[in-house]
Amino acid sequence: MIPNSVIDSIKQRCDIETVVSSYVSLKRTGNHLKGLCPFHSEKTPSFIVYTDTQSFYCFGCGAGGDVVNFTMRAENLDYVSAIEALAKRAGVALPESGDYNGAERGVSRQRVLQMNLEAAKFYRNMLHDERIGSPGRSYLMSRGLTGAIVSRFGLGYSPPSGKMMLSHLRSLGFKDDEIHTAYFAGKNDRGYYDYFRGRVMFPIIDVSGNVVAFGGRVLDDSKPKYLNTSNTPAFIKGKTLFALNYAKNYCSEYLILCEGYLDVISMHQAGFQQAAATLGTAITPDHARIIKKYTSKVILSYDSDEAGVAAANKAIGILEAAGVDAKVLKMEGAKDPDEFIKKYGAEKFSSLLRDSRSKFDYFLENISAKYNFDADEEKIRALGEVCKHIATVYSNIERDIYIAKTAKMFDVSAKSVANDVELQRRRASREQSRQRKEDLLKVTSGLGDLVNPDYARIPRAAKTEEDILGMLMLHSELSAVEVDGKALSEEDMPTELGKRILAFILAITDGEFSFGAMNESFSEGEISRAVGMMEKRRNLSASKETYSEYVRALRAENAKNNAHSTFSVKEILEMKRNQK
Ligand code: GTP
Ligand code: MN
Repeated sequence: MIPNSVIDSIKQRCDIETVVSSYVSLKRTGNHLKGLCPFHSEKTPSFIVYTDTQSFYCFGCGAGGDVVNFTMRAENLDYVSAIEALAKRAGVALPESGDYNGAERGVSRQRVLQMNLEAAKFYRNMLHDERIGSPGRSYLMSRGLTGAIVSRFGLGYSPPSGKMMLSHLRSLGFKDDEIHTAYFAGKNDRGYYDYFRGRVMFPIIDVSGNVVAFGGRVLDDSKPKYLNTSNTPAFIKGKTLFALNYAKNYCSEYLILCEGYLDVISMHQAGFQQAAATLGTAITPDHARIIKKYTSKVILSYDSDEAGVAAANKAIGILEAAGVDAKVLKMEGAKDPDEFIKKYGAEKFSSLLRDSRSKFDYFLENISAKYNFDADEEKIRALGEVCKHIATVYSNIERDIYIAKTAKMFDVSAKSVANDVELQRRRASREQSRQRKEDLLKVTSGLGDLVNPDYARIPRAAKTEEDILGMLMLHSELSAVEVDGKALSEEDMPTELGKRILAFILAITDGEFSFGAMNESFSEGEISRAVGMMEKRRNLSASKETYSEYVRALRAENAKNNAHSTFSVKEILEMKRNQK
């Protein structure tokens, strides 16, 4: 956790008006600023920036928060990265000791990041060193990389002999165990030695611009072909994508996901800047969730060999599970995208992207590989599997397209495929309608409020609760007011969310209420809801008297609700079901 004092000092230097203005054109109206919301599309401005509380709120889409929340949304960053980005902007140094992001080995993330930055400079200088860097330079040239792309990716070269990096980092004041932890030094019985030697170096840069790790490739056919930084306090392999720092700005339509560093670099050189790669590992659910922040579509551009196809197959499942639509590029005549582009050019690659097969095409291809259509029985089984699959597709149009494709591929009439699909659908629909009924019940019994599911059960008490929380956010000193001899406590709060927000407000001892600090334990939706509570109270008075009145009203509501006893979601559903 980053100390609140540090967050405060960053926020003091990052005025919300200045930060937001670099994204949105704001007009002053009264004592606040107004503009078009950057988080949903609108023609009349409903996005407000409040300079007095240093917060923003959109009355159109409900997005809200402080400068940190704004940066998170605008730059698609997580909390820590947003703080880092703002710190950079404000020129505030984040603390080195008191490490806030998992210092398993007693070495801080900041320390490793500093070392990485120094190392990147060192490798780059070595690459450009007339004598030492010559093998690295010729290798990169032989791979067809231009000087421009080499410098864009900050590529470097690790000298083949001895301990140059080790002594360089030592001279900068890094200790051997730190250097070891950051994977710049290996260790044997004779002591420490450079981990990367005689390799072209690929710095891996995270979305906030930190060098978090390196990959290093040999210049010949020796093994291992690549060495990579393993996990350090600044790097988790399964959560990092190579070149996402660039690709994130070009992938709103789709992201191209590759397997290799060189595939990505050669794609960027050819103009496909939406390309990124995992780091020599299969895609993880964490990767998929990260990708989902930037785009909802991925085109997998893996190697064309068997291993690549198997990996793509697995990747589809993982991406789809995270809600990312995945397509697969069909590449013939080259083993990987790097080779393809060199052989056939960027234009041809573009047409592969256009032709990338949908999940269904890919599914059909797998079916035809699995069954032998010459044998009637297998063909029927295959058709059965395909129809079952089509039956799960929701859209009529999409189903029709798939039915036509299937009919063509199996050389049967579209009508009979359609009939089989219908049969499967009817079979599935009984189960579905049961499910739908349950969903409907949930909505009609008012349990559709996803952010605060308790709200609908006790709307009056919950509304009063929100009013009180809004007052407290604006005037935290009110929390000390004793109403009928007792200050407000979690017990008074009728909803879970209300309890959590109150606990959060009461726990603030060092400074003002801030939405940014809520990020640690509240979801984006919950924070937006909290901002809404505050904004609704903004123009209303909040004297001790009003506050006391609200607290009294809330306690009275609670007493009433408790007397009637409240029911859990499950119990309500049960009761409704029994009424039928
Ligand atoms: P070239 O073969 O030079 O074109 O490199 P490439 O980037 O295309 O590599 P390749 O397709 O062989 O492998 C894909 C990725 O897997 C690489 O970019 C590395 O991240 C990783 N990788 C490949 N070989 C090794 C290895 O020997 N060790 C480790 N740790 N990772 C490897
Ligand atoms: Mn390759």
